This record gives sequence, structure tokens and C-alpha cells, in this order.
Amino acid sequence: MNIDILLGLQWGDEGKGKIVDALSPRYDVITRFQGGPNAGHSLEFNNVKHVLHLIPSGIFHPEKLNIIGNGVVIDPAVFKKEIEELGPSVAELRKRLIISTRANLILPSHRILDAAYELHKGNTKIGSTLKGIGPAYTDKTSRNGLRVGDILRDNFKELYNEHVKNHLTILKSYKFEFDLKEYEKGWFEGIETLKKFQFVNTEYLINNLSQEGKRVLAEGAQGTMLDVDFGSYPFVTSSNTISAGACTGLGISPRLIGEIFGIFKAYCTRVGSGPFPTELNDETGSELRNIGHEFGATTGRPRRCGWLDLPALKYSIMINGITKLFMTKADVMSGFNTIKICTSYKIDGKECVELPFNDDSGIEPIYTSFPGWNEDITGIREFNELPEALKNFIEFIETNTGVPITLVSVGPDRKETIFRS
Ligand code: GDP
Ligand code: IMO
Ligand code: MG
Repeated sequence: MNIDILLGLQWGDEGKGKIVDALSPRYDVITRFQGGPNAGHSLEFNNVKHVLHLIPSGIFHPEKLNIIGNGVVIDPAVFKKEIEELGPSVAELRKRLIISTRANLILPSHRILDAAYELHKGNTKIGSTLKGIGPAYTDKTSRNGLRVGDILRDNFKELYNEHVKNHLTILKSYKFEFDLKEYEKGWFEGIETLKKFQFVNTEYLINNLSQEGKRVLAEGAQGTMLDVDFGSYPFVTSSNTISAGACTGLGISPRLIGEIFGIFKAYCTRVGSGPFPTELNDETGSELRNIGHEFGATTGRPRRCGWLDLPALKYSIMINGITKLFMTKADVMSGFNTIKICTSYKIDGKECVELPFNDDSGIEPIYTSFPGWNEDITGIREFNELPEALKNFIEFIETNTGVPITLVSVGPDRKETIFRS
């Protein structure tokens, strides 16, 4: 059981990139299993901030192998840009970044379809990142996708044209102006960059590495509340972001899974549309946004902010089978007089702790209040040195979830991390 999973328990942006980077020294292999360039994973060291979209967050550790698994959807144009921004040469990176033959491709026309669908939805739009995620996964499950392995076929261009033709037929029924050529140039350049990397049947590779005793960390993207089955549907992404997604997104048996780390912010954020019971549309919400720099790493959109939602957190812990919790961004709340946690909901006048099927029905959060703390905690590296008020807040979450919080992140830098034994 030497494959661990790290995934987000809220609506994404919990700090997955930072923590995967901080944990990478303990692993041999870091691999992404779902999502695509809708993800924006930030990490910081030596005073430089990096944002990754497709590439696993272990890439800054030169001795580690990084794998983009079969469950990921890849936009070659985004891939090329990301590779160029990384710094090391392609010749060096190709030794430590491997791509699954089975990963599906996001075509330029998928991005256009994404934009056309969103526009058509009007007020009910999802707030998609418009990276073509929904249409690419739709083609995958309707068995119309193009995959990385297809790039090496002689008739790849012909296959590409057939797919685009189908998409253009759909687009005819939408009043939507677009310039396919604009996207296509960058996309085909990206295909040339991709071809310089190794395309591998990564399900064999990962299972073999696991059998050899190598330690693998599977890095989730998005968050549990954006899972296509268990999130706030339809305001979700189009993949399984939960722990089960790591099995299908990598080709591994559940028997190989060891720890399942669940990461959450000490408060909540959401970018895009959809229900958010503890959202704060007031001064406190703006403070969380400004102090926490809560702006999307992929789209730059302001993130909606609110208090920690315990019923939602417990739901995520249950769905994923979380063994250890990691908490990020408590440093953002230093200086708040009072901090709140939503411990149950009131729906139709009745108190409940279960997430309803339809959560746009007017959920009223019921809060427990905690005294805040004033100390700047970013320099603290020992759990015992944290302010008592924060330790009480942490203990309350542990008692109510039944899962230990074994890592506390106190800033964006890889060093600003407290490991608790
Ligand atoms: P991801 O998508 O889960 O990887 O998270 P993002 O990178 O989209 O968003 C998390 C943001 O919070 C990034 O700007 C990180 O640099 C930052 N961050 C991560 N952990 C902490 C923390 O403990 N404290 C503070 N202040 N910022 C953090
Ligand atoms: P990381 O990995 C936060 C949100 C979008 C939108 C919905 C569907 O950085 O945590 P999509 O582009 O998938 O069609 O968008 O999901 N979303 C994210 N929100 N972090 C992410 O990724 C997200 N990826 C998608 O804002 O509401
Ligand atoms: Mg993010």
C-alpha cells in the first residue's frame, strides 16, 4: 500500500500545489489523475511563486518522476506554455515527466464549445474556467475522444479534422462567433512539444513502480465539492475529483492505496457559480479575500469567501475515506476577533447535518463561534507554539470529524509548514 492520495475537500484551491511540493521529498513519484488546465496549483520557494495547470506539483524536485495519468485531459497549447515557463530544457524535463497514452486531448473546438454552452446558459452558467474541460470529458465518455497515443498515428491530422467537423456541426446551432484558426496554431505547436515527451502506458509503469516499493503520491485537482457525482451538481467540474478517481485515473487497484490526505482551508472559498451556504457577502468576506489573496490562479477571478462548513467537510471526509487532514491558511485569520464554524444547517425550519440533494433551496448555516488570535503565525514551525485559540479551533475540528489534523500550513512558502507527528 505505497500509493498515497492528496486531494481537496472543499471547492478547490485548498493549497494542494503547495503541500504536494512540500511533501515531494518523501515520495519517488508524483502523479496527476484527473482534471486538466482548469486547475491552478500554486507553490512557492526561494521567494518565487509558480503556478502549474497540467504538470504535477513535484516537478521542482529534479530527482522525482512526475506522471500525467490517463484520467487527465490535456490541452497541448497549455502544456507547451507551461513547459516553457518551467525553466529546464525539454531534454531534461522529458526524463522526469511522463504522459499517459490514454489521456484525452482537449481540442481547440472543445474550448469554443465550452464558451458557447456557457453563453447559452445565461444566468444558470456554471462559471467554467472555459478551458474546454466539459466538452473534452463529454467526448471521452461518449467514446468520441482523441487521446495522446493517437498523436503518433499516421492519420492523426485526418482524425483531428473529423472531430472538429463534428464540433462545427454542433456549433452551427449556437449563435456564437469564434476564430478556430487562432487556437489551432498554438495547439499544433503544442502537439510538437508534446511529441518530445515519452508517451507511456502509465498504468503498467505506476503498478510496476509500486511493486518495486517506490512511493507514489497522487495529486488531486479541483475539490470534492466539485466532483461530478458528489459535488453541487450541475455546478461542478466534469471528472471524479474524489479518492476513487485516483484508481480510474491512474489504473491502480484500491488495494494499493495507503493514506488519503484531505486538505482544507481554515475557511471556505469558491470560484464560479453554485451554492455556498456559508458565503459571506460582507466586510468579513472581503477581508478574507484581501488578506488571503483569494483570486483564481487560473482565471484571476475573485474567489467567494465564507466560514468553514463542517457538514460539507464531514461529507467530503466520508466520500473519500480521509485518513489524515491537512489545514491551510489559518494565518489569514490572525487578527479576527471572532471566528465561526458552521456546525449544522437549517433547511425548511429543520436543523440537519446532511447535505441535501438540492442545495439551492435556501440553507441557513448554524454557527459555533470561537475567539480569534492576534499573533502572526507565519514564522511558527512547532505545533505547540501555535496560539491557544487556534489550537482549540483545530481540536474542535478533529473532535467533530474524528480525523487528526497532522499538517498545518501557515503561509504560501514550502517552508511555512508545520508537520505534526
Ligand atoms: P490549489 O489549487 O489547491 O493548489 O490552490 P491554489 O494554488 O489555487 O490556491 C491556494 C493559494 O493559497 C495560493 O496562492 C497559495 O500560494 C496560497 N497558500 C497555500 N497555503 C497557504 C497558507 O497556508 N497560507 C497562505 N497565506 N497562503 C497559502
Ligand atoms: P484547482 O485544482 C477552483 C470550478 C470553476 C467552475 C466549475 C467548472 O486549482 O483547485 P470547469 O472549468 O471545470 O468546467 O469549471 O469548477 N473549478 C475550479 N475552482 N479550483 C479549481 O481547480 C477549479 N477547476 C474548476 O470555477 O465553477
Ligand atoms: Mg487552484
